Parts: sequence; structure tokens; C-alpha cells
Amino acid sequence: VIDLAFPDEYKDRVKKVNEYLMRSMDVVENKTLKAAMAHYPAAGGKRLRPLLATMASEAAGGKYDKAIPFGVALEIVHNFSLVHDDVMDEDDTRRGIKTVHSTYGIPEAILSGDALFARAFEVVLDSDVDDTDLVRLVDILARSVRLLAEGQQMDMDFESTKRVSSSDYMKMVEYKTAVLYSAAARGGAIIGGGTDVQEEALAEFGRLIGLGFQIWDDVLDLRSDKETFGKPVLNDIRNGKKTLIVIQALEDLKGPDRVELLSALGKKNAMPRELVRARDILEKVGAIDHATKVADELVKEAKKALKVVKNPAHRKALSEFADYMVKRKS
Ligand code: IPE
Ligand code: IPE
Ligand code: MG
Ligand code: MG
Ligand code: MG
Repeated sequence: VIDLAFPDEYKDRVKKVNEYLMRSMDVVENKTLKAAMAHYPAAGGKRLRPLLATMASEAAGGKYDKAIPFGVALEIVHNFSLVHDDVMDEDDTRRGIKTVHSTYGIPEAILSGDALFARAFEVVLDSDVDDTDLVRLVDILARSVRLLAEGQQMDMDFESTKRVSSSDYMKMVEYKTAVLYSAAARGGAIIGGGTDVQEEALAEFGRLIGLGFQIWDDVLDLRSDKETFGKPVLNDIRNGKKTLIVIQALEDLKGPDRVELLSALGKKNAMPRELVRARDILEKVGAIDHATKVADELVKEAKKALKVVKNPAHRKALSEFADYMVKRKS
């Protein structure tokens, strides 16, 4: 197992992001609302979206810290989406602690999500860019949240759809996950003063690694454990999620294994051993390996977009970021 150097090199940057992020909650007066809003930000998280924004700003020829407000706005949107996602997915653990709704209740999860969502737009307005660029950043952020909601709706719709194709899955993941990574890279490129060509290429880089990232998240749901992952495992099976892994397995499986997989999929009260058995079937038929290969291919494709990055050190940094997306343990 190779431990990537990637996140460690960015400790100082993450620290700055965290300070800005936590300070951005200070405006909230109500103690309960503020605690619910800060619940996930304070619990940790990899800060990948703000990191990508700062790295794209550098890659486009600018300073990395100029992208911090925009990166923090993305992180706030991301955290808001996690609060609501955990309600939708009925998950009780995230970042190693109890989820917002299982701590404060569903009404508080709805409300703190709303407040985080709005706060992101206030924070992005702190960006030190000219008005034309600022309007673009706000537009990128708004569009990302709208598409994220579309993707999340598709994710839920697919739970009760029998036939979901791999291209349906890719579209759903593009919306629910990749759009935010693409926004991070595009926004960073704008803030860094990149050319249109650089902006488009970096946005495409973010999109492709974002797709790989979500496929890998689906793999970890099956191959990781709660302690390492910080969130429940095997719940994608319990919820009947149509991951690329499940879609591939349903194409390949026949006989009793197929029947057994189908009976566990979406069975809310399944026993742990039924979920483990379904996982073993997915493993045996090669569907998990298949997904890891697709994720690797997406990352490989993404790296081609880095031609537009002139500075070799910045290109290398983004390339390592891309690898981390599909090698991370949590
Ligand atoms: C989790 O995102 C949600 C998905 C899109 C799969 P992250 O894996 O980036 O979560 P944190 O922010 O590090 O907790
Ligand atoms: C994440 O999908 C999508 C968003 C949060 C928008 P998941 O439902 O797979 O994320 P986790 O696994 O709960 O973090
Ligand atoms: Mg979830
Ligand atoms: Mg979900
Ligand atoms: Mg997941």
C-alpha cells in the first residue's frame, strides 16, 4: 500500500482554509443553529475542493491564497450537501462522528443546511477579484448547487429504477459530485488569471477526477471499514444505490448469485451478513475491480488536460492530486 505524499505537503494551506472556514460561522447568533452548521466543518474532512481551487489558481499563474474565499465557499456548499445527503441516505456517521440529523434532528439538519448554503454565497463575495470575475464565481457556485440537487434526485430515483445503465450512472455522478470539482478548478483558474483555454482544460480536469472520485467512494463503501472510512460501509447496498459496480454486476450475473444480490439491494432491514454476502458477490464477479479500472482510466484521461499548465511543479502537484482521488483510504 503506497501512502501518497499528496495531502501532507498542503498542511499549511489546509490550516488557512480551516481558519477561514471556522471563522465564517462566527456571524451566526443562535447557538444551536451555529453548532449544527459547524458540526461537520469542525469534525474534519479532507478539504479537497478548496485545495483544488487554490492549486488551479496557481496553475493558471496566480497566487494560491487569492482562491481561499472561493474554496471555502465550495467547502461550505459541500458540507451543506453532506448534511442533506445524510438525511436522504439515512446515515448515522460521518467524519467519524454522529451525523447532523442524528444529533440535532431532521428539522435542524434542514435549517442548518439552508444557512450553510446561504453563507457560501456571502463568503464567495469576499473574493479579491474584479466585478466581472466575481459575477462568474457566483454563477459557477449557483449552477453547481442546482446541478448537485439534480444529481442527488437522480441518485434517489435510481434506487427504485430497475434498469439503470452505466451512462445513466455517469450522468448522475457528474451532477452530484463532479460538478463541484469542476467548479473548484474552473473558479481557481479564473481567480489565477488563466486564459480561456486553461480555464476549460482545468474545468475538464476537475470533472474527470470528480467522476473517478465518486466511483472510488462507491468502492470504499464496499471495501473499507467504518473506522477507516469515517462513515458507514455497505449502506449503498442497503439503500439500493445503482453504483457502477452494481450495474456491471447485474449485467454479468446469472443464477443464484444474481437472485441473492437483488434480494439484498435496497433491503432496509437486511442483516449485516446479507450485506456482506452481497459485497462478496460483487467482489467475486469482478465488478469492484472493474470500477477501480474505470476510475483509473478517468484519472489518466484527466491528466491529459494538464498540458495547459506551464509550470512543471504545478502540473505535478495536480497530477498527484488526481492520483490521490482514486487511491485514498478515506
Ligand atoms: C464525500 O466527499 C461525499 C462524496 C461526494 C462522495 P469527501 O470524501 O470529499 O468528504 P470529506 O469532505 O473529506 O469528509
Ligand atoms: C455523495 O454521494 C454526493 C453528495 C454528497 C452530493 P454519497 O451519498 O455516496 O456520499 P457519502 O458516501 O454519503 O459521503
Ligand atoms: Mg451518502
Ligand atoms: Mg448519497
Ligand atoms: Mg458514498
